[in-house]
Amino acid sequence: MDDCNRTNSVSPLQDQRKSKHTIKICLGSACYSKAKHANLEFIEIFLKENGLIKEVDFMGHLCIEKCKCGPNLEIDGIMYHEVNCEKLPEILNRHFKTIIH
Ligand code: FES
Repeated sequence: MDDCNRTNSVSPLQDQRKSKHTIKICLGSACYSKAKHANLEFIEIFLKENGLIKEVDFMGHLCIEKCKCGPNLEIDGIMYHEVNCEKLPEILNRHFKTIIH
């Protein structure tokens, strides 16, 4: 398995304690320069339009040293690579389809 396909693990205990979902977007210079500001804005609009602001913690993080696979995005411990505005609707709708209002 190469670095791009390695996923972060989240312990089941950690999941039980969380009442919210978490989206982490890489704001390191390589990811950010590839996506410009588009991914960030797209996710913010998606969360607002679907009433998910209170249920999802949306935050940025620094470089995770997977720059060549970027832009990188993590949703509830699942890593997504080479994320762009064409891929985001499918990723977000698939991940949040059960809680979209
Ligand atoms: S800048 Fe995003 S992984 Fe390095």
